[in-house]
Amino acid sequence: MLDAEDGETLLEVNNIEVIYNHVILVLKGVSLSVPKGGITALLGGNGAGKTTTLKAISNLLASERGEVTKGSILYRGEPVAARNPAALVSRGVIQVMEGRHCFEHLTVEENLLTGAYTRKDGGAAIRRDLEMVYDYFPRLRERRKSQAGYTSGGEQQMTAMGRALMSRPETILLDEPSMGLAPQLVEQIFQIVKAVNEGEGVTFLLAEQNTNVALRYAHYGYILENGRIVMDGPAAALRENPDVKEFYLGMSDEGRKSFRNVRSYRRRKRWLA
Ligand SMILES: Nc1ncnc2c1ncn2[C@@H]1O[C@H](COP(=O)(O)OP(=O)(O)O)[C@@H](O)[C@H]1O
Ligand SMILES: [Mg+2]
Repeated sequence: MLDAEDGETLLEVNNIEVIYNHVILVLKGVSLSVPKGGITALLGGNGAGKTTTLKAISNLLASERGEVTKGSILYRGEPVAARNPAALVSRGVIQVMEGRHCFEHLTVEENLLTGAYTRKDGGAAIRRDLEMVYDYFPRLRERRKSQAGYTSGGEQQMTAMGRALMSRPETILLDEPSMGLAPQLVEQIFQIVKAVNEGEGVTFLLAEQNTNVALRYAHYGYILENGRIVMDGPAAALRENPDVKEFYLGMSDEGRKSFRNVRSYRRRKRWLA
């Protein structure tokens, strides 16, 4: 694994603003950078703007009537706005959508093969990569002939991730892989993310509400609240940060608290300063 600190930066999001339907301002100046070979986590509660950020990066906002109205997004120094989502896939950037969209009527293996559609390196290479995917996801090998719509939530998440891997990506944008899965399965999914990161050198930017698990596997994290980054740092430092512990890791009686409802302004100021 590369040292995220002095490695090359693949993706740079500079101060972007995103507006839906010409009026709803959702991202209010988000900046982040994703180093090659790292696992970067974009954390925050429901509605914080995580999915919007990922869709802005993979140029999928237009279909949602959303638009980047300020700032820039560069992948390897080139504006992503110049490319449509399919061209970005050929460039090595692929998004695994929230809610693990599979083709329900296709088998698991057929789903995986659809991920190779942009490739031009032939059947033998694709079959080799199918085996590579099955090595990371042994469960999918067992289920290869099953119709995807009849597999479990965890298997569908694995299928969606495996399909992304079949495009031989440089970077995977992974949206809420833990959503709706039992804790043991969440752990398993993150172990696979780590294995793919280390084994294939794939760079990850993952959006997660599950701060606890994400910070155990990511190298660096950004915390998004209400369309703004309120804190960022190496995952190990965030895990030890008292505010993160209080608001995101240590669940209080009322459940997850918000940075916005922080008791003392001084406390908030410490990390905004
Ligand atoms: N297509 C859309 N049109 C209007 N508002 C949207 C749309 N998609 C998301 N939003 C709003 O943008 C905010 C951020 O949503 P989202 O990026 O999905 O957050 P997260 O992924 O962190 O839960 C929410 O307030 C949500 O209601
Ligand atoms: Mg989301």
